[in-house]
Amino acid sequence: MGQVVTIDGPAASGKTSVSRELAHRLGWSWVSTGAFYRGLGFAALSTGTVLDDENSLAKLATSEQWRVDMTSDKTRVFLGNKDVTEQILQEHVGSIASKISHFPKVREALLVAQRDCAHKSKGLVAEGRDCGTVVFPEALVKFYLTARQEDRAERRAKDLGLSVEETVKAQVQRDQQDSSRKAAPMKVPENAMVVDTTELNFQQVVDLVEQHVRKNLQKKKN
Ligand code: DC
Repeated sequence: MGQVVTIDGPAASGKTSVSRELAHRLGWSWVSTGAFYRGLGFAALSTGTVLDDENSLAKLATSEQWRVDMTSDKTRVFLGNKDVTEQILQEHVGSIASKISHFPKVREALLVAQRDCAHKSKGLVAEGRDCGTVVFPEALVKFYLTARQEDRAERRAKDLGLSVEETVKAQVQRDQQDSSRKAAPMKVPENAMVVDTTELNFQQVVDLVEQHVRKNLQKKKN
């Protein structure tokens, strides 16, 4: 297994774009673990699986009806042979992902495939809600990215062409669900570097995290 760097944080904190660029700079693989929850949510909708049936969802989580593929610019999701990577980005799929993610059996079922991403890579940057706490507790470096609520909502609203007010509402609800659930709640991992991106631009954030990772890689070598 290669080295792992984790980036966790709330919805639209910039963790996807920052982690992807960091992986690119390091020449490592990259995975968005949210794609597993979104993919499962989308597969559940498409197969008519009841969204509050934990056992059926856990079964679907490991079925061959859908799969996740790591690529350098997208974490791709396929339902059968159909690429549904763009569809799973819709806000209502995010909200379903958040709802089904509180089931412990669902989380457990998705863990193996998420951890497998590190076995396939010489180095991996993984982003999500519990990457530093549960999926990769032994990660070399952990980050927790955050930003002011309104800024995060503005970013997401612009990306998805939605109103800021609606996006704030959906986000507050999703963050609340993700951080209050019993199984692997979103929280700052122990020893994580917290980066508030509100006053920083994209380059500044990536430079900061890259420097911190390189320092730790060097330390490990010595
Ligand atoms: O990062 P995202 O918006 O793609 O995540 C969608 C939802 O999936 C998120 O609201 C909660 C769930 N999720 C999770 O529970 N654990 C993760 N590691 C990643 C995502």
